Amino acid sequence: MKTIIIAGGSGFLGQVLKDYFTNKNYKVFILTRNPKSDTEIYWNGIDLGNWTKQLENAEALINLAGKSVDCRYNEKNKKAIYSSRIDTTNLLGLAVNLCDNPPKYWFNSSTATIYESSFDRPNTEKNGIIGDDFSMNIAKSWERAFNETTTPKTKKVILRTSIVLGKKGGALTPLKQLTKFGLGGKQASGNQKVSWIHEDDFTNTIQFLMDKKLEGIFNLCVPEPTNNKTLMKSLRAVMKIPFGISHPLWLLKLGAFFIGTETELVTKSRNVIPEKLLKNGYNFKYTNIKLALEGLIKN
Ligand SMILES: NC(=O)c1ccc[n+]([C@@H]2O[C@H](COP(=O)([O-])OP(=O)(O)OC[C@H]3O[C@@H](n4cnc5c(N)ncnc54)[C@H](OP(=O)(O)O)[C@@H]3O)[C@@H](O)[C@H]2O)c1
Repeated sequence: MKTIIIAGGSGFLGQVLKDYFTNKNYKVFILTRNPKSDTEIYWNGIDLGNWTKQLENAEALINLAGKSVDCRYNEKNKKAIYSSRIDTTNLLGLAVNLCDNPPKYWFNSSTATIYESSFDRPNTEKNGIIGDDFSMNIAKSWERAFNETTTPKTKKVILRTSIVLGKKGGALTPLKQLTKFGLGGKQASGNQKVSWIHEDDFTNTIQFLMDKKLEGIFNLCVPEPTNNKTLMKSLRAVMKIPFGISHPLWLLKLGAFFIGTETELVTKSRNVIPEKLLKNGYNFKYTNIKLALEGLIKN
């Protein structure tokens, strides 16, 4: 049986991938700091250990490990956001190179947040402008750590993933809550672009990249981003909530302070295009935000 190892696979995206690949008859193992079943293997994200044996002969290693960015960017959290991504990537590089038969593929998460905020100019893999704030610098360091490891027998892919919309977690969970309580209006101007991808397309693109034996950097997002206003309007329509109070920037800042998060998560204009997936012939299952939400939200 073919195996897939998902580092940091106990969270939202890891579980989406686990379900997908299990249904495709792969044996899926998850590297986690808190194993709860026999397909979950202990690692601490810092040290080599018995877990490295799992990588032998695997079809793919997928690395998703990283402290959630949904928190205040204070010094302690910033350090943890950084080390949980860069140290785990370095460690996995060592482990891959210890294998006699390393995984055929190593997918490493990055983020579409690596690109500068942009309203008019879409960011492609080739022409995208990579910025210089905290989140963008984390993404750069993450990719640098990944690129620094040479793996002669393993194809490497950087996943610049946009906001993944799924049934059981991710950004949709707090947005649904806001909408449910009548607070699902636009956030800030509402004109900021939102690059997103449906969870089915997230899994399908990884399968597609393996089937086509592609490597390098890929933007994982729909061909045409929506904007915040349309996203929130679609969400209200799908959830049958007739109104939604909007959040001006000052209120977002105040709210973010109280719930311990950063306004950047909703105010940045995420204008990203999956040029390489399209050029290689990937067919998106979902490109329309309302149809995607209808499938994900059961009233
Ligand atoms: N969700 C999105 O829309 C999205 C978009 C773009 C990029 N991403 C990136 O994709 C990755 C997965 O996202 P997600 O939404 O699935 O996140 P998640 O639900 O928060 O899961 C992240 C996983 O990382 C592991 N982790 C956290 N801190 C760690 C540490 N210090 N050392 C080792 N492992 C650690 C956790 O595993 P254990 O606690 O079990 O060890 C957890 O299962 C993240 O790196 C995220 O930045 C996500």
